[in-house]
Amino acid sequence: MSFDIPSQEVLSSDSVTVIIDAILYYRVINASATVIRVENAHRATQMLAHTTLRRVVGSKTLSQIIIQRDEMTNEMEKALFETTREWGIKVERMEIKDVKIPPHLQRAMASEAEAVRVARAKALTAEGEIKASCYLRDAADVIASSPIALHLRYLQTLSLIAAEKNSTIIFPVPLEFLTAIVKYSETYVNRTPFGR
Ligand SMILES: *[C@@H]1O[C@H](CO)[C@@H](O)[C@H](O)[C@H]1NC(C)=O
Repeated sequence: MSFDIPSQEVLSSDSVTVIIDAILYYRVINASATVIRVENAHRATQMLAHTTLRRVVGSKTLSQIIIQRDEMTNEMEKALFETTREWGIKVERMEIKDVKIPPHLQRAMASEAEAVRVARAKALTAEGEIKASCYLRDAADVIASSPIALHLRYLQTLSLIAAEKNSTIIFPVPLEFLTAIVKYSETYVNRTPFGR
């Protein structure tokens, strides 16, 4: 005999609703026992399969339900076999047909996973910024330790610009030059060149 366990909503142990349906194959091995031992052996077997499915699925987390399908069917088959044997019925096989997650929950889980990914990406970017700024500070320290280094950097930048767009030449004015003007105007004109 085969019996379809209709699709039903079951709450997993980590509180996720899953829609699950299964199929049960069984055989009468002792006809007199099915009549003598129980009122309606078929109905009893089907009801037991129903509750066993709910019990076993309810004791697992969502990831276990998805990954450990074989273990779950083995557990159910064993539990059914022990009880139905008394009724002259042998459960041969129980198969989970389909496991679904309700659409609204699918959306919620997808956006949760996306939020986790975005958060991880942001953390990685921030970490990169920290490293980059540390290196930049080190580089600045090295340049600051020798005034010639800064001039070399200027020249390097200049040659870079010249290589890229050789029709335009930008000549950076050294910062010390501007500082000297500011100092001069503060001392002799008593105001900055910016009118403050
Ligand atoms: C079948 O069940 C009846 C009633 O329980 C029992 O007396 C009989 O020994 C069983 N037969 C077999 C072959 O197990």
